[in-house]
Amino acid sequence: MNQHDSNESIRHQIESQLNWRYATKLFDKSKKILEADLHTLTESLRLSASSFGLQPWCFVVAQSEDMKAKLSAAAPMNKAKFETASHIVIMANKKTMTPEYVDSYIQVMSETRGVPLSALQDFRNIMVHKVQGMTAEALAQWTARQTYIAMGGLITAAAMLGIDTCAMEGIDAAQFDQILGLTATGHGTLAAVALGYRSAEDTLQSAKKVRFAADQIIRIV
Ligand SMILES: Cc1cc2nc3c(=O)[nH]c(=O)nc-3n(C[C@H](O)[C@H](O)[C@H](O)COP(=O)(O)O)c2cc1C
Repeated sequence: MNQHDSNESIRHQIESQLNWRYATKLFDKSKKILEADLHTLTESLRLSASSFGLQPWCFVVAQSEDMKAKLSAAAPMNKAKFETASHIVIMANKKTMTPEYVDSYIQVMSETRGVPLSALQDFRNIMVHKVQGMTAEALAQWTARQTYIAMGGLITAAAMLGIDTCAMEGIDAAQFDQILGLTATGHGTLAAVALGYRSAEDTLQSAKKVRFAADQIIRIV
């Protein structure tokens, strides 16, 4: 079987699940995500790509009804999702990046790959130079962009597992920071993702996807 043929079923699976996915407005409250699936979903976050591999983020998984209810009060626009989803993942980006943080990453790299710290100093200095050359605002924008990549990966991984999601920016980030104690850790809430299983009552699941035609947005040159 050549490469083309061996990809046929995975291509079908990916396109089918990407079409199946939609921004779910109402979940079936009785259905909960299995522990093993949740593990794969959190791994999709941990394994996400980031610039230099610096992983400028943290993720909070709200699982208890009590926590979801607290967060729901800070997301009135998206209340129904907080009340019915199995889990809510809060995506937070790093607001500052110190040389010590870069060093902690270099330390993990050295241990993981068995490379002496001395061999990683040039790489370390490039990263420190980059992050120190940015204003606080530019740094926060940079880390936010990367955190959104992780969010995209999470949504796709969930779809592959037949798990529904809704990305949500319609939340009060400052209140989330306060409820979750994020500011003290140097992170800030960007968005949240509701995860679970669509309710039969969510009529949007049968609505057609609204997308521009491929030739309007994709150019192969
Ligand atoms: C960054 C981001 C923020 C979003 N915020 C919300 C939100 O707060 N509430 C909501 O119901 N949908 C939200 N959505 C879902 C979009 O409205 C939805 O993805 C879009 O209309 C396309 O529809 P589809 O995902 O069903 O294909 C958000 C999507 C993204 C990517």
